[in-house]
Amino acid sequence: MTQYESEIKRRRTFAIISHPDAGKTTLTEKFLLYGGAIAQAGQVKGKKNTRAATSDWMEIEKQRGISVTSSVMQFQYDGFCINILDTPGHQDFSEDTYRTLMAADSAVMVIDAAKGVEAQTRKLFKVCAMRDIPIFTFVNKMDRETRDPFELCEELEKELGIDTYAMNWPIGCGKEFKGVYDRQNRKVIHFTSNTNAKAATATEIEVNDPALADLIGEAKHSQLVDEIELLDGASCDFDMERVRHGKLSPVFFGSALTNFGVEPFLEEFLRMTTAPLPRRAGEQVVDCFDEDFSAFVFKIQANMNKAHRDRIAFMRVVSGRFDAEKEVYHMQGAKKMRLSRPQQLMAAEREIIEEAYAGDIIGVFDPGIFSIGDTLCAPSKKFLFDPIPTFAPEHFMRIRSIDTMKRKQFLKGVEQIAQEGAIQIFKTPYTGMEEVIVGVVGTLQFDVLEYRLRSEYNVELYKEGLPYEYLRWVVREDEDAEPLKEEDLLLPNDAKLVEDYKGNQLLLFASQWSIQWVTERNKGLVLAEFGGAKF
Ligand code: G4P
Repeated sequence: MTQYESEIKRRRTFAIISHPDAGKTTLTEKFLLYGGAIAQAGQVKGKKNTRAATSDWMEIEKQRGISVTSSVMQFQYDGFCINILDTPGHQDFSEDTYRTLMAADSAVMVIDAAKGVEAQTRKLFKVCAMRDIPIFTFVNKMDRETRDPFELCEELEKELGIDTYAMNWPIGCGKEFKGVYDRQNRKVIHFTSNTNAKAATATEIEVNDPALADLIGEAKHSQLVDEIELLDGASCDFDMERVRHGKLSPVFFGSALTNFGVEPFLEEFLRMTTAPLPRRAGEQVVDCFDEDFSAFVFKIQANMNKAHRDRIAFMRVVSGRFDAEKEVYHMQGAKKMRLSRPQQLMAAEREIIEEAYAGDIIGVFDPGIFSIGDTLCAPSKKFLFDPIPTFAPEHFMRIRSIDTMKRKQFLKGVEQIAQEGAIQIFKTPYTGMEEVIVGVVGTLQFDVLEYRLRSEYNVELYKEGLPYEYLRWVVREDEDAEPLKEEDLLLPNDAKLVEDYKGNQLLLFASQWSIQWVTERNKGLVLAEFGGAKF
């Protein structure tokens, strides 16, 4: 194996997904601690604050104590080069959160053991599942009172439609959380409470060693023996192929805060998860080992530095090696270029880098030329990666400039912000150019939009909330067919036909019921939940 191949093979690029407060930050932090990327706990949270202070509109996130933007962190562990894509878990997350998942090759889903599957987990899971990437589950907070582990696994299967395979099994919970039973090695890992140290003190002991009953108590021991029997009899077989295709989720129990089961989880996860996955470009499949460099843009971050009003385009390297000296070809701009000031995030630090390999995420200074989904490749081998899907917003507003004289600035600003991917904009045949329907995934983006239009474009907004919560793309088999008109469709009062700025037609709905009503009454109408991508 060449050095180039081994560099790529040792890369692991994954996202951590969870509902807010399940322990995603704590778990990420423990990973970074084990990798030596940070020296003490608390630095990841600290980083959010430092970053928020770098630009004005991020003041909003600081004030609300949340992070709107997703970040990427790279660190080394046990020979692996790990890229963690952090997805904001707050209620006000944005479409960026979904798009970040497009750059990941697998996902770690953190579940609060007392709460089980929650709303945000469900949404993020759905996006991972549609790409069939491996999904690993970490059931966290076992040091607290929890729900029954069997019940939790059943809920995962029922709610998310994925099979589960418990890799380890918890022994007790709360103060009585003694450790886990490792099913593969048929051994118990007994933990001793240790909140501050890097890793928990763990002792391994055979399940049929008489000393185990002394260690965890008679009652726990016999319960464990019963549960192991139940597990072995009832659960499906472990099948690595099904894990690789996101059909079977390996489940681990532990506690991020007390370090119980975290390092064994990290090690197992790294062993099982995939090296950089290939990506589709039409008929072609671009493999990570292809010699030529290629990457796609999945996120654009404006105003990283207010003084320069700059934007950073984040791209995922799909194949080859990125060399800052070499020219690349930007397909959408039809231009050769050198990517300037490529950066990488290393835990709390932002670093200028000289090289990167398939699997890595790099941030490139963007003078306003990149859009979400753009392809960069070698000048000698041109192709286009399949587009990144557009995700349905869930909140809608009708907006215009209060001052009608500022229509031009208003439209320019709105279009620019939409191009960055923070919002989606729509029009109806009845509204003129002065009025726009804007849709967002999380309501915080409305505040961001208003703030940015005021500070960057000097436009004060008139806003009117709309009752819609669902958006569906109208699928046209025949691309040349005449666009649909509202009168062609049977629509209830709470549904509306709109168009995006690329000419796609979409329907807005106030309820799930309404979607069903429309699908049942309009034969031949095909609606899609995601826009613009093939899977
Ligand atoms: P998030 O990123 O998913 O939103 O969750 P985060 O890690 O910030 O954790 C949310 C809260 O849950 C934090 O407490 C954190 O300390 C706690 N927590 C995380 N993992 C565990 C665990 O394994 N066991 C227990 N008992 N608690 C856990 P907080 O009080 O909200 O924040 P902080 O003051 O501790 O920072």
